Amino acid sequence: MIEYTFWEGIGLLVRWAHALVAALWVGGGLLYIVAVKPGLNDESFLRNKNVYRNVHANVGKAFSGSLGVFLLTGAILTAQRLAHPDVSAQYILVLLGKILLSGVVFGLVWNRGELFTGWKLTAMSSLLPRQFRSKGGLAVVIGSMVYLISSVLHRIVELTFRAS
Ligand code: HEM
Repeated sequence: MIEYTFWEGIGLLVRWAHALVAALWVGGGLLYIVAVKPGLNDESFLRNKNVYRNVHANVGKAFSGSLGVFLLTGAILTAQRLAHPDVSAQYILVLLGKILLSGVVFGLVWNRGELFTGWKLTAMSSLLPRQFRSKGGLAVVIGSMVYLISSVLHRIVELTFRAS
């Protein structure tokens, strides 16, 4: 029988919230790009530009609204891991790479503030399938890599942390 102390319970909720927004960004983003967006390009929808604009705006709101959850829960998880006595240089390095790539993802799609808007798409995006050649598409592709890196982090923890 698993038992949680109060703080372990809070830690579990933080991890859950982080995993939920990761699912929204990567899974939701993927679904939007491969299924919803092409569907909205249908003639009947194109005649009514409001439909496209509304869906696009709502998706944007959901994404930027969850950015705060990402940063807060990510910072708590980071502090929790770095405070562990068995944390290794390898873990810190992979985590740093993950945070940098996350910064690129947020910078590509976050359009509320002024700081990161207007990033130019790099030559890299021309290597991607057509649907993904947009800021959102590139963000989903890089976001899925960040997801993979998170699993690598988890594996490092399993192998190197004595009590986690
Ligand atoms: C696109 C952005 C991101 C994605 C897709 C993502 C995804 C994930 C996923 C799927 C997990 C595993 C959750 C679980 O154990 O169930 C995770 C864990 C974690 N994330 Fe993120 N994350 C992102 C951004 C961030 C940011 C910005 C930070 C730090 C500020 C961060 C720090 C962490 C940490 C420390 C863990 C725990 C890893 C471990 O040791 O097991 N993440 N992330």
